[in-house]
Amino acid sequence: MQTLLSLAATVCCLFIVQRYFQIRRILQTIHYQPCNWTLFGLSRLGSRFPRITFISPGRHYQWRKYQDFSALGSNIFVMSAIVPTVSLNFQVADPNAIKDVIGSRARFPKPVELYKPLLFFGDNIVASEHDEWKRYRKISAPAFTEPNNKLVWDETILVINDLFENVWGNQDEIVVDHILEVLMPATLFIISAAEFGRRLSWNDEVLPPPGHQMTFKGALYLVSHDYLFKLILPNWAMGLTQRLRNVNLAFDELERYMVEMIHDRKNRSPDDVKPKYDLLNGLLDACEGDLSGNSKLTERELMGNIFVFLLAGHETTAHTLCFAFALLALYPKEQEKLYEEIKTVLPDGRLPTYEDANSLIFTNAYFIQNLIEDTSLTHDYRTLNETLRMFPSITGIPKYSAEDTVLPMTTPSGEKVFVPVPKGSNITLHTPGLHYNPKYWPDPHTFNPSRFLGDWPRDAFLPFSGGVRSCLGRRFAELESIVALVMFFSKYNVEIKEEPQFAGETFEEKKERVLSTIPRLTLTPVRIPLVFKRR
Ligand code: HEM
Ligand SMILES: *[C@@H]1O[C@H](CO)[C@@H](O)[C@H](O)[C@H]1NC(C)=O
Ligand SMILES: *[C@@H]1O[C@H](CO)[C@@H](O)[C@H](O)[C@H]1NC(C)=O
Ligand SMILES: *[C@@H]1O[C@H](CO)[C@@H](O)[C@H](O)[C@H]1NC(C)=O
Repeated sequence: MQTLLSLAATVCCLFIVQRYFQIRRILQTIHYQPCNWTLFGLSRLGSRFPRITFISPGRHYQWRKYQDFSALGSNIFVMSAIVPTVSLNFQVADPNAIKDVIGSRARFPKPVELYKPLLFFGDNIVASEHDEWKRYRKISAPAFTEPNNKLVWDETILVINDLFENVWGNQDEIVVDHILEVLMPATLFIISAAEFGRRLSWNDEVLPPPGHQMTFKGALYLVSHDYLFKLILPNWAMGLTQRLRNVNLAFDELERYMVEMIHDRKNRSPDDVKPKYDLLNGLLDACEGDLSGNSKLTERELMGNIFVFLLAGHETTAHTLCFAFALLALYPKEQEKLYEEIKTVLPDGRLPTYEDANSLIFTNAYFIQNLIEDTSLTHDYRTLNETLRMFPSITGIPKYSAEDTVLPMTTPSGEKVFVPVPKGSNITLHTPGLHYNPKYWPDPHTFNPSRFLGDWPRDAFLPFSGGVRSCLGRRFAELESIVALVMFFSKYNVEIKEEPQFAGETFEEKKERVLSTIPRLTLTPVRIPLVFKRR
């Protein structure tokens, strides 16, 4: 027993000594850049623990926003771990350093192993790098251009009108316990139409078509709602409960529907092609258009990409809209500004209705572009940008360094320095750190869309990432969000629902409660209870 104990103690001591020298060497190579050491850091193990001092930073560490940077007096610091290996993860919230990172894909590629879980249906644009990524990006980009943007616009109008006319009806007051329960299906219907060319409605029939056990809507809903189970659990565990079996079935069904859709489109006769601008068609066209054939996608790749568009595009937009609604309800003066602006653009106060939505597509194409490009509706756009500044759906953008290099940085006190970054280091572009830096965004915790008036610090704003690997769906998301804001806020005045258990709370307390978040794949609102009052 004694010998065993002393053996263990010796091993332990050796380990500590070895780590000590390793850490010293590493600190030297990074010139004693501020580090935040925890036992597990951001390793796989560390990300399972909550925040425990000296043990793990917690899954939501980025939500401390600029706090850690200001405490350490640096716009770059290192999250470091001691086990399983001594590792460094550079947390970057400096605009110039970020510009360097997003500006060079060769020096700072994406660590694709982190994206492995996104390979459910096949290789895709998000979970790839180098030549493979280039090929996917080249094929996908044309699908996301003007004709698809128009489709997004029109389908958003249809979906929200359908909600107003067939669900909310003529009620003067609608109480919603959590606005996500409205915006999640709304954004899902929009992406279904704009991506798959399949219109869904709020009051659909419930019978699955022959050959299926679930409707397309049901499968899409379950997959987009419960995909986390599939990400986290091993395959065998997916059979354990009814709910999990249902999720599994939904994935199978969605796959079956996608295969059917792809075959339908491939087999359509050339005579009956009405131009269709959904993303699926866009991808198929891009494949056909290339005569050399080397940019064709296999069916798995087609499905992988189509699926990842759904995942990348749905929850991000739904959550962003939720935060925008909450902020506008918390700041009625800003809501009033938005309303006044909408009134000047739609002077008769009449919104496009279900009936003329179709004619809008062609006759009023100018309206579609103007509404966004014209200066007339920029307040909605500013509102959206301010929401994305305060609640960037993607709170950390992972990269790594392919070579020994340096990153330029300005310290909070204004000194310009270069931070050494050893080859192989992981890098996280820390969006909340950037978005809450008071130097660029004075009074960063206040919702103030007007800060986007005139000159604003473009390099300190990164909700869609940047450079060649920036979000492909930015326009898609912006259009959808702006149309949704116009439609809801021109018709309704929106307030936070009063609840007896929260009577007497201060504005700050209310704000904190309504805007609280949980870290999932994207920044997720906890509960936003709202009341919609007819204007
Ligand atoms: C408010 C909504 C959205 C936000 C905040 C957002 C944000 C982002 C961010 C930060 C990235 C970079 C991720 C990384 O490098 O790890 C990204 C990539 C991407 N996003 Fe979005 N996104 C949104 C909506 C959409 C929509 C609606 C779609 C498609 C329908 C979409 C499709 C994509 C794709 C395909 C990529 C990968 C691009 C590439 O790697 O080349 N996103 N998005
Ligand atoms: C470092 O991380 C720990 C979490 O383990 C946290 O409590 C502490 O505030 C962090 N320190 C700084 C200066 O970021
Ligand atoms: C970077 O992150 C990956 C994935 O989490 C990890 O396997 C690797 O060890 C990290 N590299 C360094 C140098 O910390
Ligand atoms: C909003 O942000 C985008 C960058 O994501 C920018 O291109 C656009 O000009 C901004 N719009 C307004 C009105 O500030």
